[in-house]
Amino acid sequence: MSTPDLSTIVILDFGSQYTQLIARRIREFNVFSVVLPCTTSLDKVMALRPNGIILSGGPSSVYDAEAPQADPKVLETGLPLLGICYGLQFMTHHLGGRVVPAAAREYGHADVNVIEESALFHGLSATLSVWMSHGDHAESLAPRFRVTARTANAVAAISDEQRRMWAVQFHPEVAHTPQGTELLKNFVVDICGANQDWTPEHFIASTVEKIREQVGPTGHAICGLSGGVDSSVAAVLVARAIGDRLTCIFVNNGVLRKDEFTQVQRTMREGLGLNVVAVDAGERFLAKLAGVIDPEQKRKAIGNEFIAVFDDEARKIFDAEKSAGEEIAWLVQGTLYPDVIESASVHGPSHVIKSHHNVGGLPADMKLKLIEPLRDLFKDEVRRIGRDLGMPTEILERQPFPGPGLAVRILGEVTPDRVAILQEADAICTEEIHRAGLTTKVWQSFAVLLPVKTVGVMGDQRTYAYTCAIRAVESEDGMTADWAELPYEVLRAISSRIVSEVRGINRVVYDITSKPPGTIEWE
Ligand code: XMP
Repeated sequence: MSTPDLSTIVILDFGSQYTQLIARRIREFNVFSVVLPCTTSLDKVMALRPNGIILSGGPSSVYDAEAPQADPKVLETGLPLLGICYGLQFMTHHLGGRVVPAAAREYGHADVNVIEESALFHGLSATLSVWMSHGDHAESLAPRFRVTARTANAVAAISDEQRRMWAVQFHPEVAHTPQGTELLKNFVVDICGANQDWTPEHFIASTVEKIREQVGPTGHAICGLSGGVDSSVAAVLVARAIGDRLTCIFVNNGVLRKDEFTQVQRTMREGLGLNVVAVDAGERFLAKLAGVIDPEQKRKAIGNEFIAVFDDEARKIFDAEKSAGEEIAWLVQGTLYPDVIESASVHGPSHVIKSHHNVGGLPADMKLKLIEPLRDLFKDEVRRIGRDLGMPTEILERQPFPGPGLAVRILGEVTPDRVAILQEADAICTEEIHRAGLTTKVWQSFAVLLPVKTVGVMGDQRTYAYTCAIRAVESEDGMTADWAELPYEVLRAISSRIVSEVRGINRVVYDITSKPPGTIEWE
């Protein structure tokens, strides 16, 4: 993806869950940045002609025999370097300091006092609120380094300006470090001298060109539409590249929201002018989900079935194309970075948390090649691209909805009855959130059906029915999230409407867990 005339920051990934957030923050101020595994050869790193290099955080201890390692020569390139968390420890360890387990593990919010002037802290306040997540710390610094900031417990920032090395123990890239973007900008723009020349127009132009090249002058593609922002933006990008050689397929997987199947078809055809084939495969999916309780099995079942339906549909279109002398060879997916980062170690040794179906579920014998134009982007970047593509806000402002749909919000077995119950509850939740003007203020808001029945009383009747949990979170990217402090009257409206309007639910509870330690979805 590198373009010779663009400023570039290379981020070497030591396996932190947050590594791509660093890239994202940097792109927010329009500087191009790439994430490479820490094991990438120095030649390859230098071939990108980076303006600076960032060493990411990571879950390991730098002194462990199996700890991820970069070529220590990266510390001798003369380019500006910024170490973050493990990156600080990597620098310290390899340049002659000592990293040991910290007596007091720092996790979560901390206050950092800037004690010496540093280009990194230029224009920031003297006390910074930051996000820490580390068990090790630098007991003694490498020669020529000085401490520029501290917490009550430990060293928080160090630097050796002469060798152009800076490092912080906290995570400037996460939303919980409010001045983190400014700090990164100080490094990238002021210290590295990068130009702010990475813009949505540039992304669109280079992506369209890349897709055109990939697919060739006669290639055909199909695209799975989910109704969400990601697959729609991916489809519009690809349609821009290859026009009517793209056919979109929209599948009812039986676990869509109420009326979604018809509504999405309308928006995609009328709003976006896409060529859409709609497939009602609900029964097929629900048959595969019968008896499945394990969340990962649900994802796998839906993922596999999704691809199977695609293969069927693709074959029909394929046969039609073939008889006209053409051939479908490509499958477009709106996979985003958050779908990837928690599933597999694509860019480094990230820990596996959940396998998201559009990454983990692809069968080995899949016959179509993938185009994933949004694979390195975060949600808000996709919205920005969508706006620049001229897409309607009605689509761009939709809340994220997981590929496995309501299946991961129905705990226990997914049955047609339970889907119908949750669809009703979810529709009420969505309506009330919309009525309160909160749809875009929260990141996601939805209902979850629990396999727990409780006793209630309605009129003079004793009831014994399911419990429904309401989940609403605020987040910037889905990587971290706070539970939303919804107004009581909104919660009251949701609760009383669900209990009185939805047969099968007699109790509503509100989920007050943030991420971490919870995830946004319940499964
Ligand atoms: P979690 O539950 O991991 O969710 O905190 C983070 C974000 O990802 C969405 N999500 C998914 N999206 N396929 C998807 O396409 C999936 O399997 C999946 N699981 C979770 C979730 O809705 C949230 O926005």
